[in-house]
Amino acid sequence: MIMTQPTVSNMENKTTLHFTQRTQYCGEVTTAHQTQLVTVNGWVGVNRDLGGIVFIELRDRTGVIQLVADPQKNPDVHAVLSSLKSEDVISATGPVTLRPAETINSKLPTGEIEIYPQQVEIISRAKNPPFLPENAEEVDESIRLKYRYIDLRSERMQNNIQLRHSVVSSVREYLNQQRFLEIETPILIKTTPEGARDYLVPSRVHAGKFFALPQSPQIFKQLLMVGGMDRYYQIARCFRDEDLRADRQPEFTQIDIEMSFIKQDDIIKLVEGLVSKVLAVAGVNVQHPFPQITFAEAMSRYGSDKPDTRFDLELIDFTDIMAASEFNAFKSVAQSKDGVVKGLCVSNTENYSRKDYDDIKAMVEKWGAKGLAYIVYSPEGLKSPIVKFFSEAELKQIQERAGAKEGDSLFFVADKRLKAESLLGRLRLHFAKTHNLIDHHQHHLLWVVDFPMFELGDDGAHSPYHHPFTSPNPDDVHYLETEPSKARARAYDIVYNGEEIGGGSIRIHNKAVQHQIFQILGLSEDEIQQKFGFLLEAFEYGVPPHGGIALGLDRIVAMLSKAPSIRDVIAFPKTNQAICLMTDAPALASDEQLKELHIKVVEPPKALDKKPKP
Ligand code: AMO
Ligand code: AMP
Repeated sequence: MIMTQPTVSNMENKTTLHFTQRTQYCGEVTTAHQTQLVTVNGWVGVNRDLGGIVFIELRDRTGVIQLVADPQKNPDVHAVLSSLKSEDVISATGPVTLRPAETINSKLPTGEIEIYPQQVEIISRAKNPPFLPENAEEVDESIRLKYRYIDLRSERMQNNIQLRHSVVSSVREYLNQQRFLEIETPILIKTTPEGARDYLVPSRVHAGKFFALPQSPQIFKQLLMVGGMDRYYQIARCFRDEDLRADRQPEFTQIDIEMSFIKQDDIIKLVEGLVSKVLAVAGVNVQHPFPQITFAEAMSRYGSDKPDTRFDLELIDFTDIMAASEFNAFKSVAQSKDGVVKGLCVSNTENYSRKDYDDIKAMVEKWGAKGLAYIVYSPEGLKSPIVKFFSEAELKQIQERAGAKEGDSLFFVADKRLKAESLLGRLRLHFAKTHNLIDHHQHHLLWVVDFPMFELGDDGAHSPYHHPFTSPNPDDVHYLETEPSKARARAYDIVYNGEEIGGGSIRIHNKAVQHQIFQILGLSEDEIQQKFGFLLEAFEYGVPPHGGIALGLDRIVAMLSKAPSIRDVIAFPKTNQAICLMTDAPALASDEQLKELHIKVVEPPKALDKKPKP
């Protein structure tokens, strides 16, 4: 189509929904199109009037292109372009011309060219937007989430969503090549325990009965293995009603994998290949195999089951020294069953004031510590509320064990092993942040293996460390009878820069062992039958050994895009109050709907608290 006469149309006044379709995406017009007539469609961005000449940046998913109108040459087009406001949607047709040398914008892929439109159609006028996509980052997140469709136009969100797409594509490509089948599992299910609360869906047809939304496809993927599917994957949506944080959403996506007739090492190898490929999508190249560390060692050295190994600051064990000392607060713990006294030696604390130590102590106590003792190695000698309890020889021993030098401070926690280690692990991360210990160019991947089967509650009850379908380590099966909390699981987590990006296990494929685990978890015979009878029955009809893993897609993409929260890589996320600010969900149901569902609301619903929480 060649246009000789300049034409202008303003479609907002017309009932027709026709518009001139693009010949090129905005960001893909190049110098090769010079002199050609092209049509671009998009949103109006920056709009400038320089000495009467109007310049407009037109934006679509691929980038921006500059449109220019000169009132001397084309007053009609100039009038329309001048009338445009940010976020109006237009179609513009004109020849591509080279910009004058002095106006070339080398920062822009289309910076050498511009279009002098001969025809402009205003497809849709925009109200004055609550914020401009290019300023989205300065806007409060609650506003961005309410107007998510405007936020999505920002370069940041466009990049994040495109990266997410590329990651998912690379996952599919890799797993398809390895003979995996992509299989969907149901969303309306009987509960799958993953440690969170279920979202329930009332049944209209069956009064008083409920479906649950899957916390993960765990049981179904295992049943797919029983069903002979051999290698399964799914980009699976999971639903968990739990306390939300920056790295947690009530609905999130897993790269969910299950395989038959395999061993732990096979899954680890497969996932190392997969993760390396996914990271390469974002230009991050990593070597595999990734290191493996046992849960016990990770806790002992880093105080975390997802250790960040990009910096040292390892935990130091003083239990033996304290057990032999006369400082009763530490001695009694050190001599008690499972009690330890461990610490951190932090350098460059010369500038710490007394108040800083008090604040750190208060912070750790808020986390649940019984106390936090410290020794400061200052130029004037040791400063500490506890040195008076130790002999010279003990102080020397402590300093040598810690390798402490002038300018360092030692912090101690005395408690049960896992508690003391977790508290110090958290304190370790606190110092990493405040002392800038992390080199953010590093990419550390590792496996944590040999997790315990169970967590032992203060009330003596066992709960699964992963989920109840995790196989015990064959060497530890005897503990199931005697001391279940000592049994290790064939479970593994993959950790990337201190974040758990995935977890999985070899599963139990034996009915008797599965039954025994349910019993250890305190389920009665009735509960076992009622909740898991179908699974135990399936285990009577020929079960392959199987295992798998689920990787947190949102977390991986958030880390690769350096987004502060997984909300930034989900098109329509919920707030950390589990609300969709754009649609105002959850919302009230009508009396009629409730009646149909046989539900009576007994408490009057409260208004949603939409204020953003930290
Ligand atoms: P798990 O519960 O460890 O394992 O979950 C696997 C991975 O999913 C991610 N993840 C989350 N991401 C965002 N928001 C959440 N609320 C959230 N919860 C978990 C994490 C985590 O590592 N069925 C098992 C897997 C298996 O055994 O194969 C499971 O779901 O990155
Ligand atoms: P106390 O003798 O109880 O006053 O404790 C002396 C110092 O030891 C204080 O600074 C306490 O914070 C610290 N302290 C006491 N109990 C613990 C503990 N379990 N872990 C670490 N520090 C402790």
